Amino acid sequence: MAQIGIFVGTVYGNALLTAEEVESVLTEQGHQVTLFEDGNLEQWQVYAERVILIITSTTGQGGLPGNILPLFQQVKDKLGHQSALRYGVIALGDSSYDTFCGAGHAFDVLLQEQGATLVGDLLEIDAMKYPKPEIPACRWAAQWGVLL
Ligand SMILES: Cc1cc2nc3c(=O)[nH]c(=O)nc-3n(C[C@H](O)[C@H](O)[C@H](O)COP(=O)(O)O)c2cc1C
Repeated sequence: MAQIGIFVGTVYGNALLTAEEVESVLTEQGHQVTLFEDGNLEQWQVYAERVILIITSTTGQGGLPGNILPLFQQVKDKLGHQSALRYGVIALGDSSYDTFCGAGHAFDVLLQEQGATLVGDLLEIDAMKYPKPEIPACRWAAQWGVLL
């Protein structure tokens, strides 16, 4: 079973609610899961050789929510290669924006550049289609947890 750190980016709380539900699914599978609402670099580094799940919405025009932006910048500026890290991404967004799920994709691009391994597929959740993002997220998490 894996040790998983869930790092959340949220403005209005949808991604946090989603993360709490996903945490339950993964815990029920036997994983050891910790959720970070305002995660910092020190907490991130605990998972450097473990598993990180990013669950973030997108704000502005493709921007990262304020509670996860500092962490993104620090991972970008202070960490180099992260080849032992395995990660997943659940990106909440709205397909009426050109920058659909931009924050989740920004994390994915950064971690790919740093040599981390994406487990499974990045999940995009469109608010236009899913008023309850936790439903597709939990379905995805049940399959993702098995891959770890
Ligand atoms: C002001 C504002 C800007 C947004 N900008 C984007 C965007 O650029 N791209 C996108 O995919 N979704 C965008 N969204 C949609 C949100 O990401 C989506 O509603 C999400 O479910 C919000 O989750 P949260 O409550 O965790 O912040 C925006 C929403 C608002 C209110």
